[in-house]
Amino acid sequence: MKKLLTFVLALMMIFSMTACTKPNGGDEVKTYKVGVAIYRYNDNFMTLYREEIKNYFKSLETDKVKYELSFVDGKDSMDEQSNQIDTFIAQKMDVIILNLVQTSSAEVLIDKIVAADIPLVLINREPLGDDGDESYEGILNNPKVCYVGADARQSGTYQGEIVLALEDKGDINGDGVVNYIMIMGDVENVDAQYRTEYSIKALVDAGVKVNCLYQDTAIWDQTKGQELVANALAQFGDQIEVVFCNNDGMALGAAQALRDAGRTVGVDVYLLGVDALDECQEMVKEGTMTGTVLNDHIGQSHTAVDVAIKLLNGEAIENYYWVDYVKVDKAYFN
Ligand code: GAL
Repeated sequence: MKKLLTFVLALMMIFSMTACTKPNGGDEVKTYKVGVAIYRYNDNFMTLYREEIKNYFKSLETDKVKYELSFVDGKDSMDEQSNQIDTFIAQKMDVIILNLVQTSSAEVLIDKIVAADIPLVLINREPLGDDGDESYEGILNNPKVCYVGADARQSGTYQGEIVLALEDKGDINGDGVVNYIMIMGDVENVDAQYRTEYSIKALVDAGVKVNCLYQDTAIWDQTKGQELVANALAQFGDQIEVVFCNNDGMALGAAQALRDAGRTVGVDVYLLGVDALDECQEMVKEGTMTGTVLNDHIGQSHTAVDVAIKLLNGEAIENYYWVDYVKVDKAYFN
């Protein structure tokens, strides 16, 4: 009887071993669950970023390591995103990649995720600390939390420098003042705040006189951007010399409004964006846009994925990872 029992047990062991090993005798396949929460799918830049997260994760899969990716659309609603994070926690994700809807609500979400002991990679929307202290405590104090992004000040400065490199430095009518309009992204976002501030700072620091005719938010959106620029053109017409847009989506809308008003970029107006969407790179090449700034979604998404994998492997990480912007004007293509 004892012998029979030993035999049955041995059989069971062999069976359970073969059940979890591959037929070729390899080790067990490990599948990691990755939750990716995006602030809003309907965003040109974040769509490219999101696609690249997916492609890059897939390219890193091996026979033994798989990534089960769950992407969710926050639809620009903090409540929606908060529920999505609760679901990720309930699903016991191995790591979460989070593009916040609202950086001012970062603490609540980070606390939940940290309490569930799930490593977290924040992307694209940087939460800032209090009192002008730019390092956010919720990131600094947590060894399994980090932020991957680009320094928005750099993108603003590059926009300004593109204008400074023009022969007339943006002063098309030669009256000694650059009259501009500023089409902003979501003002809750440091990207919108810094791009607005640093593009103009670059001009002022170089001794150029500036005058803001119009400034409003088009929340990163092309259609809204077109509307605002059409409004500004109706109000200020030929006075407008430079149109600064915090991103290319809005610059595409601006380009349409300028065409509708019979204006010609490079001749009687200048147009600047950020992101370097393919379409905008073409426009810069052909001169229908003055310049843009490459927001490196490839570099950022790959860094985010690489660091997520480090976290999955239990490796130590930095709290901040920065990816450079690149100035894109006509000279970039020579
Ligand atoms: C910026 C990007 C914008 C928009 C925004 C969303 O970095 O330039 O186009 O995607 O992020 O937060």
